[in-house]
Amino acid sequence: MVSIKSLSALRGAALLLATAWTATVAAKPDLDRSVSLRADWMYLTRDIPDLPQWSHAGKRFHYRKTVDDGFAFVEVFACSLRRRDPFDAVKLASTLSQVTGTTYQALRLPFETFSYVSDGDDSAISVSVAGSRWTCTIGEGGEAEAYACVRPPSGGGAGNRPRGFGVVRDLTVPANNPPRRSPNGAWEVFVENDNVVLRAARSNDTPRPLSSDGTADNFYDPETIVWSPDSTKLVVYRVKPGYARQVVRVEAAPTSQKQPIVRTQLYPKPGDDIDQEQPVLFYVDEELESIEIDADLFPTPWQLSRPVWRRDSSEFVFDYQRRGHSQARVISVDGATGTPRAIVTEEADTFVYADRRWRYDVGDGSREMLWISERDGWRHLYLVGTANGTIEQITKGDWLVRDVIRVDEQRRLIWFSANGIDVDEGKDPYFKHFFRIGFNGSNLTRLTTADASHELTFSPDSSLYVDTYSRVDLPTISELHRADGSLIGTIETGDISRLTDAGFRAPEVFVAKGRDNATDIWGLIVRPYNYDPDKTYQVIENIYAGPHDSFVPKTFWPFGYHSGGDKVIGMQAQADLGFIVVQMDGMGTANRNKAFHDVAWKDLADSGFPDRILWHRAVAAQDPSYDISGGVGIYGASAGGQSSLNALLFHGDFYRFAVAYAGCYDNRMDKISWNEQWLGWPVDESYSAASGVDHADKLKGQILLISGEQDSNVDPASTMQVVDALVRADKDFELLIVPGGEHTVGRSTEPIDYVQRRQFDFFVRKMLNKTAI
Ligand SMILES: *[C@@H]1O[C@H](CO)[C@@H](O)[C@H](O)[C@H]1NC(C)=O
Ligand SMILES: *[C@@H]1O[C@H](CO)[C@@H](O)[C@H](O)[C@H]1NC(C)=O
Ligand SMILES: *[C@@H]1O[C@H](CO)[C@@H](O)[C@H](O)[C@H]1NC(C)=O
Ligand SMILES: *[C@@H]1O[C@H](CO)[C@@H](O)[C@H](O)[C@H]1NC(C)=O
Ligand SMILES: *[C@@H]1O[C@H](CO)[C@@H](O)[C@H](O)[C@H]1NC(C)=O
Repeated sequence: MVSIKSLSALRGAALLLATAWTATVAAKPDLDRSVSLRADWMYLTRDIPDLPQWSHAGKRFHYRKTVDDGFAFVEVFACSLRRRDPFDAVKLASTLSQVTGTTYQALRLPFETFSYVSDGDDSAISVSVAGSRWTCTIGEGGEAEAYACVRPPSGGGAGNRPRGFGVVRDLTVPANNPPRRSPNGAWEVFVENDNVVLRAARSNDTPRPLSSDGTADNFYDPETIVWSPDSTKLVVYRVKPGYARQVVRVEAAPTSQKQPIVRTQLYPKPGDDIDQEQPVLFYVDEELESIEIDADLFPTPWQLSRPVWRRDSSEFVFDYQRRGHSQARVISVDGATGTPRAIVTEEADTFVYADRRWRYDVGDGSREMLWISERDGWRHLYLVGTANGTIEQITKGDWLVRDVIRVDEQRRLIWFSANGIDVDEGKDPYFKHFFRIGFNGSNLTRLTTADASHELTFSPDSSLYVDTYSRVDLPTISELHRADGSLIGTIETGDISRLTDAGFRAPEVFVAKGRDNATDIWGLIVRPYNYDPDKTYQVIENIYAGPHDSFVPKTFWPFGYHSGGDKVIGMQAQADLGFIVVQMDGMGTANRNKAFHDVAWKDLADSGFPDRILWHRAVAAQDPSYDISGGVGIYGASAGGQSSLNALLFHGDFYRFAVAYAGCYDNRMDKISWNEQWLGWPVDESYSAASGVDHADKLKGQILLISGEQDSNVDPASTMQVVDALVRADKDFELLIVPGGEHTVGRSTEPIDYVQRRQFDFFVRKMLNKTAI
């Protein structure tokens, strides 16, 4: 008999771990159906192509597409549109099975793309299987018996020294330090005892020291040495190493031995000291002194890119991002005087998004550079005069540039994708459309018109491209076009008739106004297969609100694992248990304007919830089957795990049931790069304001926390700190730790079925009361 007192002491992880999955599930057949839905439906489409690769100098392209029960590869001759199988998939599967020891089927080859080992030679391809590269001969002129796969010899050269999340070097790994030959072949430079030394090439002369101030605490990094093209000088970064924080994890149940193993990982966290790089210019001429470049224009760097010299050796250039992300610059340094200047500067009251910086040097960049900036509130292209600092806007308007895919310097034309250009026609602003524009901003030409999200893949000489497009409710179509946009022919038209016969219904797109009652918030609604409009359904939201992108699927492929890139199948599987499942992109996510994105700045607890709640209410206002009266459910992983917990902490009157995977629940515990990008540096109260640990006592409702014990992306101690705070606050919750599990555990890595079943079961039990617990 367990006393009330000891019961309450047991509350939390221990009790719930013991009871969670022992209850019998009333709806077991339904659960089994949902768990296997992806596997059952995955191979029911035909002719849905992946993006193509060009080969044979642009005369052919190939791609993978779906066929009955799997995938096949197709090669197309661009001039005739003739098709062929690039290889015998049965023979290749059998060869790969032999060499890897894993059995592969012809329709389920373990790679998505291949390339010819030598372009124009059909006899050998290169593929990547389970992280390893293989070179496979595939016969010539139909000699199918010639099939053989070998591991190509590795490059031999030592790799670069790794850096924890890009900013702290792993000093336990030696730097790659071969003698670096000057372009004229006369000199070699390398690092010895932390200092730069020079000697005549191929000589055994004692090297001449170029520096003497290098020490273990302030060393010259050989991997940053860059010779000027005229071989008279070189630039090297001197580095003050940051704090090499090690995250420690215990692997409790290793497969290799009985006893646990301690794992460590170089893992800098917000606020940690990071490597500080100082460019130093050295001259071969013994008469000239070395110059330490004045850092006034690039203080407290987050990162400096590797320097690049102009062709005439007059200057070198690097990208600078200030720590805390309030400023970005391109810095040019005079090769004769060592004087730096800023070619262009971006300032933000909030953040400059480091991962989406883009610069293109026209020629060698000594006169002009193409640049992307959000300075007018939208992400647009600019032409910068690099010698005189002039900046001219190329694209303009209430829409944004996504990716530049091609620049033609001779004709001064740029090909790019854009978002939001048709928004006045009520079209989805997240659809990618492609355009061409002149450097001077004239001649904006549209290449894609179909109302869908497009990707263009140009041939190497840019005379042709394949346009691959789809929507969540339009299976993928691919077409071959000439560079001027004219259509040569349709290549594939996806067919989902078998999938539709099996019960697949595309998600519905729904749009509602956000918190400002003006901005459109776009989302999806997924209903159960046996949906009856006369009944009511409780609602579950699939959330991911990381500011680095937008997440509602816009293209057709619905079979991603449920918290992978495309989550439709997981939403359907959850909905089929008797719910309506939805997903939306709230404010604070990317691919809209700067103001929309800035909502996330120093406020990761926001997660767009004010917009999300209004969106749910807008659906409920026009759809009587959409029942949010008893509280909404929510699930998500990583940043979506943090948002799922925070939904119950900060909006517990609206959201009452959550499954949170691998959450970065306190951003001070998580990797430095992602978190300082959105919360800034130094670490301030905004970190605590978003913390699910500091606010755990506000928990309302029911939560299941799921974490992989060996998560190398989000420190799994984040989950245990939430557990600790919930126990202290005397809150009930459920916990599933998967021993050995990585960040993607149960989502795209094993045990997928088990973990998904736990999510489905949790919502059924908590929201539908179908199980006796
Ligand atoms: C600045 O440099 C660019 C590129 O060389 C040139 O086109 C432009 O005329 C220059 N502007 C001024 C004001 O000197
Ligand atoms: C822009 O450049 C194009 C092509 O180089 C040229 O034809 C056009 O006259 C230029 N327009 C302006 C306004 O300078
Ligand atoms: C750009 O547009 C201008 C004016 O419309 C035209 O004269 C010129 O030929 C166009 N240039 C290109 C490269 O299309
Ligand atoms: C939102 O805007 C619409 C249309 O302008 C207006 O009718 C409505 O009253 C506004 N709602 C709120 C809550 O301000
Ligand atoms: C589930 O059971 C609880 C407690 O018995 C009850 O309060 C709640 O209304 C039930 N919910 C549903 C959807 O039946």
